[in-house]
Amino acid sequence: MYKLLTATLAMLFCTSLSASKKGREFVRAHRPPTHIVTLANHIFADKQVYRAMRRSDGAALQELGFTVITAKDNVIMEHKQLPGFIIKFGNRFAGLYSTIARVRMAEKIDRYIQRKNLTAVHVPKKYLYHIPHRRHKLKDQNYLVFSQKMPIQPRGEPRIISKQAIEETCRVINRFAIVDASPGNFGIMDEGNVAIVDTESTIRTGGGLWYILDNPLTRFVQSVVGTYKFRTSVSKS
Ligand SMILES: Nc1ncnc2c1ncn2[C@@H]1O[C@H](COP(=O)(O)OP(=O)(O)O)[C@@H](O)[C@H]1O
Ligand SMILES: [Mg+2]
Repeated sequence: MYKLLTATLAMLFCTSLSASKKGREFVRAHRPPTHIVTLANHIFADKQVYRAMRRSDGAALQELGFTVITAKDNVIMEHKQLPGFIIKFGNRFAGLYSTIARVRMAEKIDRYIQRKNLTAVHVPKKYLYHIPHRRHKLKDQNYLVFSQKMPIQPRGEPRIISKQAIEETCRVINRFAIVDASPGNFGIMDEGNVAIVDTESTIRTGGGLWYILDNPLTRFVQSVVGTYKFRTSVSKS
């Protein structure tokens, strides 16, 4: 009995060690370039910024120098001292892993695009930025996504998508089971190409460390959770 208990505890300990090690590796591998981190540290050292993001307070963020694109549950914004990036903060699943999912999925989709030689669909490169004065634990409240800003045409204007881009985008949507395939999540670029800007809501998202660990058990859990998410989102719409 004792042996079983000790073995179980040892296993749990090793799993959590391996999870936090993988988490640290993940953060390191997705860190923005150093000069960007330096610039960002000046902006995000101000605790008021964090408080405003946490409250999804768009007006306060504007006053603090941001250009806010949306501030509902997630906060999506830009800052003139960080040109070329869209900044994303996740309040929606407070404490969970939508931020990490965005980074992870963008990377996976990009690999797929390269492997299949798709040329008319693009995904922005996404970095994970640790917010100064927050803990290092891999959770949404501690990190931001810096997403490479894509040259997409403004909404509301007539836009033409190439047939090839439609076909390739559909392949990505199907492959990754992108649950929220609504227009705001896809930008139209010049030449009728498509940029998949929102990589958060995919069936193969799973949750943070579970996701990163990526073994057969986590894949199984993800598929069950994913199917559940898919069903709920379909039945809602
Ligand atoms: N990488 C990007 N390049 C250009 N515009 C972007 C990018 N990411 C987001 N946006 C703009 O911000 C809007 C909201 O971003 P999105 O990631 O869809 O946020 P949410 O998860 O809250 O839906 C998009 O509709 C798009 O207009
Ligand atoms: Mg979106």
